[in-house]
Amino acid sequence: MTSERREVNRRSFMKETAVASATFATALESFKAQQAMAAEAPKGGRPINIAIIGCGNMGQGDLTQALKVPGVFLKAACDIWPPNLEDGLAIARNESKSKYFKNVYDGFRDAEKDEAIKVAKEAKGYTDYKEMLEKEKDVEAVIIATPLSTHCQIASACIKAGKHIYSEKMMAKTVEECKALGKLAKDSGLVVQFGHQQHWNSWYKLGEKLLMNDKVCGKITHMRAWWNRNSSWLRGVSDDEKKLIDATKYGYKDVNQLRNWRLFWDTSGGLMAELACHQIDVANWYTGGSPTAVIGMGGLDFLSADEWGGNVFDNVQCVFEYPGGVKLMYQSISTNSYDGQGEQIMGPDGTVILSRKGGFVFREPKAAKLAWEKHASGAKDAKGRAGIAMKADSTVTEGGKGKQEGKAMGGGKDEKGDPYHDYRLAMMDWAQCIREKKQPKANWEIAIKAAIPCIMANEAMQKKAYVEIKPDLYTV
Ligand SMILES: NC(=O)c1ccc[n+]([C@@H]2O[C@H](COP(=O)([O-])OP(=O)(O)OC[C@H]3O[C@@H](n4cnc5c(N)ncnc54)[C@H](O)[C@@H]3O)[C@@H](O)[C@H]2O)c1
Repeated sequence: MTSERREVNRRSFMKETAVASATFATALESFKAQQAMAAEAPKGGRPINIAIIGCGNMGQGDLTQALKVPGVFLKAACDIWPPNLEDGLAIARNESKSKYFKNVYDGFRDAEKDEAIKVAKEAKGYTDYKEMLEKEKDVEAVIIATPLSTHCQIASACIKAGKHIYSEKMMAKTVEECKALGKLAKDSGLVVQFGHQQHWNSWYKLGEKLLMNDKVCGKITHMRAWWNRNSSWLRGVSDDEKKLIDATKYGYKDVNQLRNWRLFWDTSGGLMAELACHQIDVANWYTGGSPTAVIGMGGLDFLSADEWGGNVFDNVQCVFEYPGGVKLMYQSISTNSYDGQGEQIMGPDGTVILSRKGGFVFREPKAAKLAWEKHASGAKDAKGRAGIAMKADSTVTEGGKGKQEGKAMGGGKDEKGDPYHDYRLAMMDWAQCIREKKQPKANWEIAIKAAIPCIMANEAMQKKAYVEIKPDLYTV
């Protein structure tokens, strides 16, 4: 079939789908989660001295967001890769040259800026996290953003040193490590938060309301989630970089494995750990359950050794079973980016499609109209299908003004144009939990329920088997 012919067929299919949902009124009930959270967000409080271990891509992002929280000061940083250690410290000292990470304090804590920079200028850099934990007695909390294979070891050391932690996802690499870390977190009474920032994302918060309160799908029966990219994780490593450090001292085969840890089964869980674990988390959240079994196929089938450079799968396709027969179909591929990232939640009354950047709702033609539909105005999704375009900070309420209020959050940005608002809110909450001795939202239980299915899915794909996920895998 020619591509033109395929496009005509695709368009006529879309048109039929649009007709089926055409009666669907289009607006949203009141939803102001973003503003409400911002209003509730801490304006500051007692100072919290933090350290960071792992100042790579995510560490720099996490640090940037943490430093926007009033009262948070960087006292120490650790990384074994010298350029990243330097970059991490530069962010806190407001000396970063990166357009993403510079001027972290501006607009968020202007009054404290000088003090925060002064503290950061005195902050020490380390290559050995154990030495840092030993020496930095007045560090109260630690951000951990190192490769997956190190999470359990480093997070455990921090907890044992009495530090609150914000540890990046996935929780840990193996079932045993997840359980051990979960137990430590549970018994410690410390604030142990994991990098599942979706719980602060306005679109996913809106999804929670639509699915769990308004029940726009009725009972959830089926889910789909996907993360499709046409790119490789491979980082080039120059000859000079190969000589920069002895990576074997830190448990890596060589510098290439340190820099490309995502691509090796020894240090990574591949696409499931890096991408799917966020989406399993969302599916768990909305169903209130966690997978009981998984089957799947995956492979390193399409990218050459030069393009991919490692041995983890470049494509994965799995089906997870949830309690009550609910299924989640999962796909992540590396050679086609169509539809990007998203989750689709389905039930007899409708479908909710979400991504980090927005969402859409379709009511099944046979389902009863929702109370607020009469305030609707027409909207179509990117494929021309009629439905409700989700606007996380817009308002149309029953008895309200009948038109949208507030500014729509285009592209997942918040009111300050910050696309990383969920990361920042997650950090704000972390600081607030530390100050108020509260347990965090994205705690070890959320993290273990996201991690175990990914670990078992890799096992199912590697063994080409149906793998049961027994309830005791989620307990500690
Ligand atoms: N929450 C999210 O949305 C999100 C997004 C991207 C990455 N992540 C997670 O963040 C973590 C880091 O990912 P990344 O993309 O920043 O990787 P990265 O390779 O860019 O950074 C990892 C850093 O850890 C350092 N490191 C490695 N071993 C160390 C050790 N023993 N001690 C100190 N430092 C060490 C490396 O030198 C590097 O600077 C991963 O777990 C990843 O899954 C989360």
